[in-house]
Amino acid sequence: MIPPDPELSPRRAARAEAERLATAALPVQSASPAEVSPAEVAAAGGPTRRERRAGASAPSGIRSLVATRGLPLAARRRRASVLAAAVVVAVAGAVAIGAAATAGGRDDGEAAPGEATTTVVQGPPAVPAEGLPVPQLAAIAATATPCDDPAFTAALASGDDAAVIAAAGGGSAFRAAVASGIAPCVSLSDPNREWVVVNKQRPLDPVDYRAGDLVMPENVRALEQSALRARAAGALTEMVRAASDAGAGEIAYLSAFRSYSTQQSTYAGRVSVGGVEEADRESARAGYSEHQTGLAVDIVPCRGSCATLDDVAGSPQGAWVRDHAWEFGFITRYAEGRESVSGYEPEAWHLRYIGPELARAYHEGGYTTLEEFFGLPAAPTY
Ligand code: DAL
Ligand code: ZN
Repeated sequence: MIPPDPELSPRRAARAEAERLATAALPVQSASPAEVSPAEVAAAGGPTRRERRAGASAPSGIRSLVATRGLPLAARRRRASVLAAAVVVAVAGAVAIGAAATAGGRDDGEAAPGEATTTVVQGPPAVPAEGLPVPQLAAIAATATPCDDPAFTAALASGDDAAVIAAAGGGSAFRAAVASGIAPCVSLSDPNREWVVVNKQRPLDPVDYRAGDLVMPENVRALEQSALRARAAGALTEMVRAASDAGAGEIAYLSAFRSYSTQQSTYAGRVSVGGVEEADRESARAGYSEHQTGLAVDIVPCRGSCATLDDVAGSPQGAWVRDHAWEFGFITRYAEGRESVSGYEPEAWHLRYIGPELARAYHEGGYTTLEEFFGLPAAPTY
């Protein structure tokens, strides 16, 4: 027997039933990449016609630097500075080579006064005996990596995520270092870290990982006996109190930590209701769920009795969480319109704890997926 599904909302159940009835009468078609709509391509940051035209003639490295549409401001600025540095190098090289060619002999085809005029076949500029000057790269400062900073590596070794981020200079600096690739000592795959990224392309490692510091949040109504990692639990307690103090109403929760085997049952339940394709848009396969990290929680709004997951988006609690969850270290992990990157349809109820410093950087940078925040590839499918 399949146990109850913690994320089977009434809307999803109704939709699954409607689809079951419809597909019973229709031939089954599976979606293929060719059926992806322009809107989905655009949502995925796909190229515009102009970008495709430009892309056809630009070298790929520069092309990727120039293509900043859809990137958050900070990322655009970073790319602009890298691009400016690349232009400096290119121009310096071209000037140096041009100067060398000119010094090696006139190349305008005209004789200098007093010279005999001879007809020469124009070829490449003459290379001086000592060779062409090498463009000087001194204009680009060597990139400092936090991984060379003893304070940073000591914080990393201590396991204190907040200390690591402080040593990096804050959430934005940490994000920029990780996303740019200059901090290889930081692993986005370490399930013990608050910055771990789990998606359809990034299973937990080990696949049956189980967090060690799971506790029940204090003073929060839990509709299931489901724990969270200690820091996330404390943050949920604070957030629920702040929402209540602000008059937004009570926030309770359904599901937080789910073990590998619980996730197996959850996913199997979804498949039995809506089929694999439907299940994969709503529920992670075992080993691929953020719930297994102990850093994700599914909230519900309550007013006396509690409503369902589907009611979060339209509730005062949902509105308050959209504006304020980041202040407590949570992000809405599966945002509206980002399925092509996150891999899941919107879930207003699924909050992911990444810590207050990173959540601030996420909020202030205008990010809507953790993949883009850390410069990772989109993960629409397994
Ligand atoms: N519903 C989310 C994607 C999960 O199962 O982890
Ligand atoms: Zn969830």
